[in-house]
Amino acid sequence: MKINRNDECWCGSGKKYKKCHMEFDEKYEFMKKNGCLMPNRNLIKNAKQIEMIRKSAEINNGVLDLVGEKICEGMSTEDIDKLVYDYTVEHGAIPAPLNYQGFPKSVCTSINDEVCHGIPDKNIILKEGDIINVDVSTIKDGYFSDASRMYIIGKTSEEAEKLVRVARECLKKGVEAIKPWGFLGDIGEAVEKHARENGYSVVRDFGGHGVGLKFHEDPFVAHVGKAGEGMVLVPGMIFTVEPMINEGGFEVFVDADNDWTALTEDGSLSAQWEHTVLVTDTGIEILAW
Ligand code: MF3
Ligand code: CO
Repeated sequence: MKINRNDECWCGSGKKYKKCHMEFDEKYEFMKKNGCLMPNRNLIKNAKQIEMIRKSAEINNGVLDLVGEKICEGMSTEDIDKLVYDYTVEHGAIPAPLNYQGFPKSVCTSINDEVCHGIPDKNIILKEGDIINVDVSTIKDGYFSDASRMYIIGKTSEEAEKLVRVARECLKKGVEAIKPWGFLGDIGEAVEKHARENGYSVVRDFGGHGVGLKFHEDPFVAHVGKAGEGMVLVPGMIFTVEPMINEGGFEVFVDADNDWTALTEDGSLSAQWEHTVLVTDTGIEILAW
């Protein structure tokens, strides 16, 4: 169906098409004609949706700041869960993990060789030298955000410290590779290159994802790949970048007891950092960090 210059834009902004997504559509159709894999329109957020997702992300950032202030040796991962739940609810929001596909808690806490999706437990006590990923996701007025950070408990080994630092650099390089009208593969290549240069491997079985109107939307954001390949990244897309970097091999397995927690196959350490990123007309904006 052809949309006219003076019609309302399809994105729901209420603006005239010519003042909104007309130029966008010309570029989009051109790339599509040239064989590029283009995102479905439902993955492109309008200004109102972005504003709502930004609000969700502000709370999500607040949760991670709070965890950073409170986390310490002797604390249980269930104590972290309570911090996350209380702060989120006090700010009029809902922890997205709670009851998500049967996940029993409000946050994922993954320690040492745990790669992701660790379940908080009163019997898991943080001890000196642990490295832990706390992965927080928030629903505010129906809009989703998602980010995670690593925390080091007391003093850890040089090796663990380096892994945590390099994993953070991998995220930074992945995010810096995002350009409007660039490609998904640009991210994976940048992440993988930096991990490899440091002798680490990149987890393949889990990745980033579109986020905002749902917890997990398309596309799947691989943290390996080739620049110039995969889906085109267009303004208005919101997705996570969340590389999981292993000291040893990339292989992981899921704990058969709880069906959630992923661990490194070889027992080596794993570290992960995650942002929620918006692609803009001119670059990117990190919404949740
Ligand atoms: N926050 C995780 C992610 O980054 C998803 C966890 S699903 C849960 O995608 F149920 F474990 F919370
Ligand atoms: Co995520």
